Amino acid sequence: MELKIFKDYSDLSASAAMQIVNCVKSKPTAVLCFATGDTPKLAYQKVGEIAKQHNVDFSKCFFIGLDEWLGIPPANTGSCHYFLHHYLFAPLGINSSQVHLFDAMTVNEEVECDKMNRLIEEKAGIDLMLVGVGVNGHIGFNEPGADISSGAHIAQLEEITKSVGQKYFNEEVVINKGMTLGLKQVMNARTLIMMANGKKKAPVVSRVLNENISTDFPASLLRQHNHSLLMVDEEAASELEK
Ligand code: F6R
Repeated sequence: MELKIFKDYSDLSASAAMQIVNCVKSKPTAVLCFATGDTPKLAYQKVGEIAKQHNVDFSKCFFIGLDEWLGIPPANTGSCHYFLHHYLFAPLGINSSQVHLFDAMTVNEEVECDKMNRLIEEKAGIDLMLVGVGVNGHIGFNEPGADISSGAHIAQLEEITKSVGQKYFNEEVVINKGMTLGLKQVMNARTLIMMANGKKKAPVVSRVLNENISTDFPASLLRQHNHSLLMVDEEAASELEK
């Protein structure tokens, strides 16, 4: 695992956006899988501009959803679906045929997860996965104790995830379960980037680097991935030893 520390959120985001653009530049048919949330928001906003500057075409790549709040419709501005369309797909002019996200309104959760697993196999795996990290160390909705060998599944969310998750919604919502790719798929991504910014993530970043590697703190698994990058700003790195 490589660690990169940036002066601030803006520099961090620009570099993450550059990683995305470079991935598609070197492999126009890249399979990409991205987290939503506050952390990667600015990076996604910068992707369009950087892609234009570097003349990189996103029309042949494919996007697979990392996670979704079960039961939250795509039109809800707090859904992962809405977020990705708003900040990434629409500005980049991505066609709906290039995207497969979890259907949070499915009547058959198992079928929905199987579909996701099959798709990843058909696409021969994920080239670049970019994730954030929860304060409990979750990746996607792989909460502490998640199964290391899991594929797409429905996860019972921890109380902390449910309460922190309210920040994405305009009104209070019931979010008990998440749909998520599993840790096996996270670890199988050819490149795995984790981003963290701000003081509130400083204890988490310290744990990512210092905690025993275990699913008790899923983000620690990043250190076991053979092509992973932890990108943080100085605030998030402020609890690391020099
Ligand atoms: C969301 C996701 C989550 C977030 C994590 C951090 O799609 O995968 O694991 O990455 O909860 O969220 P923020 O970036 O809002 O702090």
